[in-house]
Amino acid sequence: MLPVTKMSMDPLLQPYQLKHLIFKNRIMTTAHEPAYPEEGMPKERYRAYHAERAKAGVALTMTAGSAAVSLDSPPVFNNILAFKDEVVPWMKDLADACHEYGAAVMIQLTHLGRRTRWDKNFWLPIVSPSHNKEAAHRAFPKKMEDWDIERIISDYADAAERMLAAGLDGIELQAYGHLMDQFWSPLTNTLEEPYGGSLDNRLKFTFDVLHAIRKRVGSQFIVGVRYTGDEVLEGGLNKTDGLAISHRLKASGMVDFLNIVRGHIDTDAGLTDLIPIQGMASAPHLDFSGEIRAATQFATFHAARIQDVATARHAIAAGKVDMIGMTRAHMTDPHIVRKIVEGREDQIRPCVGANYCLDRIYQGGAAYCIHNPATGRELFMPHEIEPAKVKRKVVVIGAGPAGLEAARVAAERGHAVIVFEAASKPGGQVRLTARSTRRQEMIGIIDWRMERCAARGVQFRFDTLAEEADVAAERPDVVLVATGGFPHTDILESGNDLVVSTWDVISGNAALRGRVLLFDDAGDHAALQAAEFIATAGAKLEIMTPDRTFAPEVMAMNLVPYMRSLQTLDVTFTVTFRLERVSREGGELLAVVGSDYGGVRKERRVDHVVVNHGTIPNDELYFSLKANSHNFGAVDQARLIAGLPQEGATNPRGMYLLFRIGDAVSARNTHAAIYDALRLVKDL
Ligand SMILES: Cc1cc2nc3c(=O)[nH]c(=O)nc-3n(C[C@H](O)[C@H](O)[C@H](O)COP(=O)(O)O)c2cc1C
Ligand code: SF4
Repeated sequence: MLPVTKMSMDPLLQPYQLKHLIFKNRIMTTAHEPAYPEEGMPKERYRAYHAERAKAGVALTMTAGSAAVSLDSPPVFNNILAFKDEVVPWMKDLADACHEYGAAVMIQLTHLGRRTRWDKNFWLPIVSPSHNKEAAHRAFPKKMEDWDIERIISDYADAAERMLAAGLDGIELQAYGHLMDQFWSPLTNTLEEPYGGSLDNRLKFTFDVLHAIRKRVGSQFIVGVRYTGDEVLEGGLNKTDGLAISHRLKASGMVDFLNIVRGHIDTDAGLTDLIPIQGMASAPHLDFSGEIRAATQFATFHAARIQDVATARHAIAAGKVDMIGMTRAHMTDPHIVRKIVEGREDQIRPCVGANYCLDRIYQGGAAYCIHNPATGRELFMPHEIEPAKVKRKVVVIGAGPAGLEAARVAAERGHAVIVFEAASKPGGQVRLTARSTRRQEMIGIIDWRMERCAARGVQFRFDTLAEEADVAAERPDVVLVATGGFPHTDILESGNDLVVSTWDVISGNAALRGRVLLFDDAGDHAALQAAEFIATAGAKLEIMTPDRTFAPEVMAMNLVPYMRSLQTLDVTFTVTFRLERVSREGGELLAVVGSDYGGVRKERRVDHVVVNHGTIPNDELYFSLKANSHNFGAVDQARLIAGLPQEGATNPRGMYLLFRIGDAVSARNTHAAIYDALRLVKDL
């Protein structure tokens, strides 16, 4: 613990009063729908997620994200249905659970307007103040009529009243890319007066909503607006408009705080500038938020890539904002505030900006953090590891993400841990990934685990290609094989010896010039990282995939920086074609290309062919260890899923329990590798 005097001087730990409500410190999580609702309701899983963060000290949790106020605002990523009365008891349970730890609880309410699709839920036409469609969701809206406006105003008031009834401390209205600011922006409002035309007319819908809400919830309930202060879009709302709107919101007397964002979200690229990912600037909109706070002298909240405590502290100390959002940072480490209070900032698991969390929800999945598999699984996965009753000797082979997580968790259980690693440095494929300048932050996944392992006395044997005898010599109780995989390029009818892998390119072993064909049959980051290296070096590159979409595993926001660089280089993108074989003809390669759709055959004459087809397990050691293990390497999947220790003593001559994790089993991703390790080792 830090001395009390030092704690009390930390700007982040100062209380903040908003009306009657006192936030116990300056750190909040902004609205972020992790897509955990069940039938639109925030049930046990949802509650556990927020309670974990409240317990560790976050001052304000803005729950949900885009909770729907109306029937014709179908959720785009499994949002809370705030238009249903049954939401009240669920939200009450959630609020009670967080209040118990002194955290304030609010919810973000919205109508998505055109930012959704009509072919969901009730198949109602979607609505907006113009017929203009949004690029990201592609659905053409109905241009709103007077009765649409009236009923949606009253829907907002109903939803606000439900949240008051649930015992929440307040609400926030979403106004960037959603219906509210579709009214504000000249780009999306073609209505006549009274709701279209001048800025005042375009703001009328918002103030009508606020009036209706205040009538129901009174003047004490906290109501804020999260809005864009500058759309940064030709013809859209500019900073002058943003400042004017900020002043009007304050002057209305109906709004208690401003929560600032900057930009637009109608395209993947716009969304990524508003919520930046790894490799992009840190805190890019903080100064802008500070300008709005300075101009309005009003309670101001903000979040956008403030991942580390030092930047958050600066935001508060410099008076840029009153409350600072560390949203994805809390998905990675829910215990940030507790660690600050206890003087353990250096132990915070860093958000590396991989954006696996956010990209997954747009792909229809639940939000998971790339390197904290307990997030979103609070009901059955621990954020803090319990010590084991019986201490064992654990040998881990491989210091990639799976191996290091296994070593970390085993060490925190109190076991004696030895890690063998063939390379001279830890990291495996993550280290390779981090070779791309824009993805360097990924190494935080490794560095954090190495630090945790060092603190627990894990022994590392680098530059050691462990064999069966080396492992046996340690007389382990448990052996965990996390040896990863090798690039799998052996997939062509012929000519496999003529191609190189994406790893060859990323590692710098293959510098390719001239005409290059990159056949991407995995659709993952490795292909695009290699593509950037190749095209940046001046080659003429064609990226070909048999899939019907490009780079499907990379997902929407992660694709943005790649496209921004690849589209400026000499790169063509070919979907739905499959590389079949390669042969050498004179000084060049002849690539024969077919299609899964049949009946077509093309040729490409190139200087190099790169194949990206994931990895094939490096499993030799595992198979050599199997015969002498208690369990022959078997995993009792039912016990694993139930969170019970593995038993598996089927071999009377066995000397150790043996398990294989990560890509040593099959090619998956970093999250899967780490989750393999956590869920197995937490019960060892
Ligand atoms: C999984 C996820 C879902 C999100 N959903 C919403 C949302 O519904 N409404 C909203 O205003 N912001 C949403 N956000 C954006 C966050 O509130 C925040 O602005 C963003 O993550 C940037 O802050 P950070 O860098 O601290 O994470 C979401 C973010 C994440 C990670
Ligand atoms: S997935 Fe990446 S961006 Fe999202 S919380 Fe985890 S580390 Fe941060």
